[in-house]
Amino acid sequence: MRSLVLACLASLAAAAATHKPRYVLYFDQYHTASLPNKTVTAGITHVITAFAQSSLFTTDPPGDYEPFMNLTAVRAMFDPGTKVCMAIGGWGDTAGFSKGAATDASRKLFAKNVAATVSRLGYDCVDVDWEYPGGNGDDYRQNPNSNKTSEIETFPLLLAEIKQAVVTKCRDRDVELSIAVPGLERDMIAYTAKQVPKIDKVVDFVNVMAYDLMNRRDNVTNHHTSLTGSLAAVDTYISRGMSAHKMNLGFAFYAKWFTTAKGVTCDHPIGCPTEVLEAADGSDTGKSGAMTFEASSFAGVPANLVDSPDGSCGAGTNYRCPNNACCGQYGFCGTETGHCGTGCQSGFGRCDGPSTKDSFFKALANAKYDSANGGEWYWDATTDLFWTWDTPEIITRKFQEIVVKRALGGAFAWSLAEDSHDWSRLLAMQANVKKLSQSHY
Ligand SMILES: *[C@@H]1O[C@H](CO)[C@@H](O)[C@H](O)[C@H]1NC(C)=O
Ligand SMILES: *[C@@H]1O[C@H](CO)[C@@H](O)[C@H](O)[C@H]1NC(C)=O
Ligand SMILES: *[C@@H]1O[C@H](CO)[C@@H](O)[C@H](O)[C@H]1NC(C)=O
Ligand SMILES: *[C@@H]1O[C@H](CO)[C@@H](O)[C@H](O)[C@H]1NC(C)=O
Repeated sequence: MRSLVLACLASLAAAAATHKPRYVLYFDQYHTASLPNKTVTAGITHVITAFAQSSLFTTDPPGDYEPFMNLTAVRAMFDPGTKVCMAIGGWGDTAGFSKGAATDASRKLFAKNVAATVSRLGYDCVDVDWEYPGGNGDDYRQNPNSNKTSEIETFPLLLAEIKQAVVTKCRDRDVELSIAVPGLERDMIAYTAKQVPKIDKVVDFVNVMAYDLMNRRDNVTNHHTSLTGSLAAVDTYISRGMSAHKMNLGFAFYAKWFTTAKGVTCDHPIGCPTEVLEAADGSDTGKSGAMTFEASSFAGVPANLVDSPDGSCGAGTNYRCPNNACCGQYGFCGTETGHCGTGCQSGFGRCDGPSTKDSFFKALANAKYDSANGGEWYWDATTDLFWTWDTPEIITRKFQEIVVKRALGGAFAWSLAEDSHDWSRLLAMQANVKKLSQSHY
């Protein structure tokens, strides 16, 4: 009787502990110019450095991964005890995963290599960011989904090998395994009702990328990270067998823009026809893009510009493009439409298209709120640009109407320093996580 009572108390304690919400931030190598202080990062439970290339783990011995910032320096930015995780993959990095997942031997090698790297660098956890098993990744026109059907079966097997390998290798600590999963049902190819329970069983948590819900493969406008779109993503996973408490709801610290079709008046956020945003070969037509909420997106052009020595340019640098070249939205000099057209950074070189930055400020100043769907948007009639983004107020609604209502395990965002303009999104997440921890939801 006595031991039964004790056992029950122990399990109650365990249940309470699992209710501490996860608060996870990706920390990516492309955004390190302006970093938050420890007041701003307080409460974060996991930080995930991004990215290690998947192909590093397919060779014997593995490739030599070094994080972009040493982990001592990373840890110093957060509360003591914050877990630091290694993300593998990211958009466009699928080949190494495909190779690693293929056979029993390749899965074991991949897992052994991941465990060795996690152990060597002293990571606390590992995040598999394969976009996406089963297809619809960046390479879907070159390597069609029909060539990836086996990944639907092998993905959970690869995850199980990785979890087993890291736990065996790092006996001193409980190394968690997480995955980042697509927000659009059309991309959930490997997340079928048959496979999800197997995936759910082996992972510790799941980051639901409830953003980019409109992307260049669409031909009409939509919110990219609305409340309704995010809820639909979560509910699809739940209906296929994912445990709610393992899921973290994803937030994006960037706005997206899309060029609407000529002659269209877009006075509503959903369903305006766009220009062709993705070419038949799967490449970007340069008619859509993103603008982060980082400090450099709001800064003026520096006075002391010099000619770029290495082809990089634009916000966050002092480099302009020489030889009348254009500085494209991703910070590289060139003369293609992708550099000179919409998204081009005026002030850092020639531009042939409209200034996205001016349009961004116009959108922020004249923002419209779609309360029914929980999305902020604006259509700029001068440039034909449709804007879609998330505000601190909508973040709070998503916590109440998704994280709490569905009893999710927590929340995460891409990415830490993309909010450096005023940290308002990060601070909204911090406040909401704090409220969650106090409410014992
Ligand atoms: C930390 O950063 C925030 C936001 O920039 C600022 O308001 C605050 O004063 C800073 N705190 C410290 C202790 O520097
Ligand atoms: C890590 O980075 C910090 C800060 O940049 C530096 O002081 C320290 O020496 C580095 N540690 C190692 C092991 O490289
Ligand atoms: C099909 O998949 C295999 C195995 O991953 C790969 O080696 C091959 O290159 C792929 N085919 C195409 C057309 O990319
Ligand atoms: C727009 O996209 C839908 C769904 O992907 C597709 O069925 C339709 O053919 C597309 N329309 C045009 C005009 O490309």
